[in-house]
Amino acid sequence: MLDHYNRKINYLRISVTDRCNLRCSYCMPEDGVCMVEHKEILTYEEIQEVVAVAVPLGIDKIRLTGGEPLVRKDIVELVRMISVVKGVKDIAITTNGVLLEKFARQLAEAGLHRVNISLDTMDPEKFHQITRGGDIRKVFAGIEAARLSGLSPIKINCVIKQFSDEPDALAVKQFCLENGLQARFISQMDLSTGHFSIVDGGTGGDCANCNRLRLTPTGKMKPCLFSDLEYDIREMGIREAIEAALFGKPEKGSTNLSNCFHNIGG
Ligand code: 5AD
Ligand code: SF4
Repeated sequence: MLDHYNRKINYLRISVTDRCNLRCSYCMPEDGVCMVEHKEILTYEEIQEVVAVAVPLGIDKIRLTGGEPLVRKDIVELVRMISVVKGVKDIAITTNGVLLEKFARQLAEAGLHRVNISLDTMDPEKFHQITRGGDIRKVFAGIEAARLSGLSPIKINCVIKQFSDEPDALAVKQFCLENGLQARFISQMDLSTGHFSIVDGGTGGDCANCNRLRLTPTGKMKPCLFSDLEYDIREMGIREAIEAALFGKPEKGSTNLSNCFHNIGG
């Protein structure tokens, strides 16, 4: 499907939960967040239905994000349910990696193709500090499990303060080079001020070539990360919400005051 600015939209990012087992300082407030009620969260049947309606409209690439997608119960089952929808060519997950050691093999068997894993530093102390309590060894174990399970390519998302040659970013880059991982450097963004830029090594933030729609955990179809526009699939119907998002997709991002990274995914 083509949007108003002739961009081909074939990529749907689905945030499956606003919860996370880490508290990265640039993403989550320290004392947690006001979580949405359980009944507001889309069921797996609803998410599968969204995918089934989106594919004939032109979506062939799906990514599960969060919060942290692996903290949602039976996430493997959701991957299986999406992988059986005819026409889905690519299923990926963006994860902090903490639970990947436990789930990588099951996810691969359920039809997951690949993973992006967040890693901002190689320093265990600093990791603990940035994530407010995370254990970097779990992430390394998760990366290894992803590799052993045949998930490929494995991409590493590294959030940078300013430059991709910051010491932490250079260390992550070196680690990726040594381990056959693809590094992507993402400037720290602020949804409320509209401060964003093109992802170095990735595809995000490039408005002219944007190919994505987003689905929030509560079923709002969003045409753009940096916009307040959203279309409720439960109120409007799935097809109608997708078409409205497509039609309403802005030429470029501005600001988003309705969402945070923990409920829309990076
Ligand atoms: N700026 C840039 N990236 C962010 N992420 C979370 N919050 C921000 C932010 N403020 C990224 C994480 C992860 C992905 C889910 O989103 O690093 O890679
Ligand atoms: Fe969790 Fe990812 Fe946000 Fe960190 S950036 S708190 S890992 S959702």
